[in-house]
Amino acid sequence: MPIHYDNNTQIFHLQAGQSSYAMQVSNEGYLCHLYYGKRISQDDLSYLNETGRGASFAPNPADGSPTLDTRLQEFPGAGVGDFRVPAVGVRAANGAYAVELKVVSHAILTGEKPALPGLPAFYLNDANEADTLEITMEDALLGLRVKLYYTAFAGENVITRWAVAENHGTAPLSIENLQSACVDFPRMDLDMVSLHGAWNRERHVERHPLFHGSTVIASRRGSSSHQLNPFAVLCDKHATEHSGSAYGVQLVYSGNFKIEAEVNQMHCTRVTVGINPENFAWRLQPGESFTTPEAVLSYSDEGFGGLSRALHRVTRNNLVRGEWKHKLRPIKINSWEAAYFNFDADKLVAFAREAAKTDVDLLVMDDGWFGLRNDDTTSLGDWFVNEEKLGCSLKELAERVNAEGLDFGIWFEPEMISPDSELYRKHPDWALHIPERGRSLGRRQCVINMALPEVQDYLFDSMSAVLKQANITYLKWDFNRNLTEVFCNSLPANQQGEVGHRFYLGLYDLCERLVQAFPHILFESCSGGGGRFDLGMLYYMPQTWTSDNTDPVDRLKIQWGTSMAYPIMTMGAHVAAPYHGRAGKIGYRAAVATTGAFGYELDPTKLTDEQIAEMRECNAEFRRHQQLVSTGDFYRLVSPYDNDGHYTAWQFVSPDKSETLIQCFTVFNLHNVWDLRVYPQGLDADAQYELDCGAVLHGDTIMHAGLRLQHFGGDFSHRLLFLKKKPPAAEADASQ
Ligand code: DGJ
Repeated sequence: MPIHYDNNTQIFHLQAGQSSYAMQVSNEGYLCHLYYGKRISQDDLSYLNETGRGASFAPNPADGSPTLDTRLQEFPGAGVGDFRVPAVGVRAANGAYAVELKVVSHAILTGEKPALPGLPAFYLNDANEADTLEITMEDALLGLRVKLYYTAFAGENVITRWAVAENHGTAPLSIENLQSACVDFPRMDLDMVSLHGAWNRERHVERHPLFHGSTVIASRRGSSSHQLNPFAVLCDKHATEHSGSAYGVQLVYSGNFKIEAEVNQMHCTRVTVGINPENFAWRLQPGESFTTPEAVLSYSDEGFGGLSRALHRVTRNNLVRGEWKHKLRPIKINSWEAAYFNFDADKLVAFAREAAKTDVDLLVMDDGWFGLRNDDTTSLGDWFVNEEKLGCSLKELAERVNAEGLDFGIWFEPEMISPDSELYRKHPDWALHIPERGRSLGRRQCVINMALPEVQDYLFDSMSAVLKQANITYLKWDFNRNLTEVFCNSLPANQQGEVGHRFYLGLYDLCERLVQAFPHILFESCSGGGGRFDLGMLYYMPQTWTSDNTDPVDRLKIQWGTSMAYPIMTMGAHVAAPYHGRAGKIGYRAAVATTGAFGYELDPTKLTDEQIAEMRECNAEFRRHQQLVSTGDFYRLVSPYDNDGHYTAWQFVSPDKSETLIQCFTVFNLHNVWDLRVYPQGLDADAQYELDCGAVLHGDTIMHAGLRLQHFGGDFSHRLLFLKKKPPAAEADASQ
């Protein structure tokens, strides 16, 4: 099993897939980090535990033991001699800020993974998948216990970690910082790769070397954000898509986060990941506990590609839940860019009728069906159907759409409240605000205080009432502004630092109630496009709208970047009407969008017969490969960030390596390029594969000599290559 403990050396050795993670309890009781990387034998690694290294201006603990400032530690405290970024910071009742944790006990939970109360988290499908190590540490003076959890997956290079703080003392404690995980690397020759962005330009890949001091990837926007995603990779200088060591750091959380990589005076790197400590403080009364979100650590010696594939698999298998976990997702058509707020039932039914001709599965009625909402100035929170606008009941509308052969879906933005709404007039105090301070508006709306149980109940009841009215099989959950004036009237002054996190506990609670009550509904989260694309939301909603930007050229970079951390099947991707982007051809746009949870965002009543036929063909093509795209291993072959972005290629390989799909895209014509080739990966080297054209080549030939993309070029071209393994001759004969 993946977790071993040696009683003599007090070394814990976790073996997750082909990776090892080792730590040791020192003589003084500190939990010291020994190793993280490629899987190694279970040798005595005590020689790696440097305890005697002093450093000027680094005081020794009161008992005279070596300074903490130069030790590699698992969960460093603050205020007692380790001056690097801490994993935990606690203010005692007397105002003192100091915490020093020592190990008191441990337990190996074989085949188990405890749940994280109220929080999204990875789960096990069966007991053979993972073991969990629980290490209890204590600061006896504070009466504080911190339990560290490490779940090591047996079959993947993935370890998840979280921490639980417990107050065993007699006075309240203020937890001002509690990270989910910390890893000390005895080196600084690392690059960081992170995903930055903005609205309409989400998750672009950026790589930068670490330096002395801190590199911080964080959000203080009250959401995981368009700007920086809760994901980072630390890698060797020479790491590429396909080779070199890479460490992934990720958080299962949708609120304020921080990933910090700090290089210290000893040229060592400390990485912490968790809730952003800024404006965070949790008051822990005696007897109470606080659980952090879960962090995901992953390792690959096959570069970023290997890292992504492991993350894709473990996210698909152990995070995404519910009826839609394994089901192929419907091809949808969404009303937003086709109609914005300007629709009634007849228009939507006409959309359904025309879309049916293209063989689409589902019509989504986006924003504008509730309260008095005809633009974005009003009605968020008034979750009752505007039958006058629709011209009929929701039930009738859904029935009419169903009669055209399509399923029916609906849009909500539950966490928002319009100042011009019945709800706001009744409960102005439900909007997040600070008394006497002005209420900032974003898109003319306030954020509703999800920390309030009465708000959670109101949303559950009002949304359930709508969902029960009609045959609804899909729900798009939007979130269109960031949090300001984060304050809660019902909490005392010394608990206001809890509101940001309580907001997410409230949201997660509501999501859980809704997904349990409506298990057949496919939920898709959204935040003005991809402003909240994170593992927290994916636990409740198996797909996320990747970006409002559906321009296929921009999407190449957005989807490439998103795929670094998230499975392809979780990325909502649509073909929008050409006026919303550069490249008009539906086939090209669809080729990019079919690398995701596919759909359309256009007015189908305006399509020509030729376009309808083209869409039918695109849909058929998507369905042909949907299983492979949904469950295959993803290889990024040619980056849209290289070669001026003129040529991009990526590939899917089925888990049994029997099929592969290679997709290549140009942006602008590549002049005078001789014999453009693509070098697929991940094939069975000895097997023979049959190309679309009927040619047969061995896997090793295809991977190393490459495939020629003859006559491939021109502006906005795409080429799709599908290869199937030839059955061995004997089997082929038998099947005839
Ligand atoms: C932002 C989303 O990203 C869009 O797709 C659309 O749903 C609008 N909100 C509706 O207001």
